[in-house]
Amino acid sequence: MISLKNLTKEDPEIAGWIKKEDQRQKDVLEMIPSENYTSLAVREALGSVLTNKYSEGYSSRRYYQGNRYIDEIETLARLRCQKLFNVPHANVQPYSGSPANSAVYFALLNPGDKIMGLKLSGGGHLTHGHPDVTFSGKYFRSTQFDVEPDGWIDMEKVAKLARKEKPKMLAIGTTAYPRFLDWKKWREIADSVGAFFLADIAHVAGMVAGGVYPSPAPYADVVMFTTHKTIRGPRGAVLMVTQRGLKRDPEMAKKIDKAVFPGLSGGPHDNVTAAIAVCFKEAATPSFKKYAKQIVANAKVLADTLKENGLKLTTDGTDSHLIVIDLRPQMVIGNIVAEALEVANIVANYNTVPHDQNPPMYPSGVRLGTPILTTRKMKEKEMRKIGKWIVDVVKEVGHFRLPEKKEDRAMFIKKTKAELWGNKRLLALGKEIKKFSSKFPVPGEG
Ligand SMILES: Cc1ncc(COP(=O)(O)O)c(C=O)c1O
Repeated sequence: MISLKNLTKEDPEIAGWIKKEDQRQKDVLEMIPSENYTSLAVREALGSVLTNKYSEGYSSRRYYQGNRYIDEIETLARLRCQKLFNVPHANVQPYSGSPANSAVYFALLNPGDKIMGLKLSGGGHLTHGHPDVTFSGKYFRSTQFDVEPDGWIDMEKVAKLARKEKPKMLAIGTTAYPRFLDWKKWREIADSVGAFFLADIAHVAGMVAGGVYPSPAPYADVVMFTTHKTIRGPRGAVLMVTQRGLKRDPEMAKKIDKAVFPGLSGGPHDNVTAAIAVCFKEAATPSFKKYAKQIVANAKVLADTLKENGLKLTTDGTDSHLIVIDLRPQMVIGNIVAEALEVANIVANYNTVPHDQNPPMYPSGVRLGTPILTTRKMKEKEMRKIGKWIVDVVKEVGHFRLPEKKEDRAMFIKKTKAELWGNKRLLALGKEIKKFSSKFPVPGEG
């Protein structure tokens, strides 16, 4: 870990919590697919003096003096990104994925225009037109499609819906869909109605960079990704305008840049920009390619192990870094399984499954991913072991049933969680997993 010498002296309370979190990250098997463990180099850039600077604007066009080194850093970040993803334009300033998607809508749509995206409950993202509660669903009209009961997207059905609804923007990307997206077909659908096509590769950017997940760059107009997931950088996001996007509108890059600043944000987080540049350098190496390949190999073995031991997976498997277990055959909710996994030192999250009959607060699935385990150099052998542990945990808690009466549910969750944290078998497994986990160093250790 980066030294906390000064922090410990000045603010021992915060230093204490950071040290505890550092230890927790080492002790557990973190399997949330949208997370990763960054390199020390990324974190050194993130914790650098660059956080002291204001630099509203873009390289060589700033509203503040003193930006000659910041300009170099931001230009390097942009150029590394353009090379890595083979695109002509990149903006590295968005604070995170949600504001980045908002910037695309702000740049290319008018309020009230129609956005089309995958439903959150089917594995899409809130920013893809989720109704009422989000910017994308409140200031724009939205039409959302769902996956089929087996978890797959039916492209014919979606194409038909698009022809009927005539959206102005397709926002296509996933948070819980384990399969490849067919970018060429999405382009055809967008073209059939003259829509813009935003490809949101937040989850899979690292695998696209590593060459193990298809790139949307030849097909989309704009590509967005977050930098803190599989690509293993700091928390942030990037917007890329493709050749296609520029061909459609030569002003598209300018429009996107203007929407990010001054449209939606102020000064860029220069320390984040530097850390993003570092992560792009890392992602361009042969060892990162190997890493990306191993993420998928691990997920496939994990999926097979879970299936061989009787668990059902949405779409029956994975092409990528993530897996969603459908717990409906066991009749136990995801909340209980996710909590039991945490008692056993495996960290995952509960998730809806396709056409879930349960409400989103008590969904029937658990989502798991392999990016962090792979960062810690775990391979197929370890995936088989972890898969069996997960199966054991599901068996241990499979008898818990969500009460029929809505008013009894909150108390049921509270009581069951307390019970799980006293479950001897889960606690014993937790000890075993902590010991196992400590054998696999985190970046900067070992
Ligand atoms: C597909 C997708 N798009 C957008 C986002 C939003 O990113 P952020 O959480 O950085 O706002 C996420 C994050 O989970 C995501 O998975």
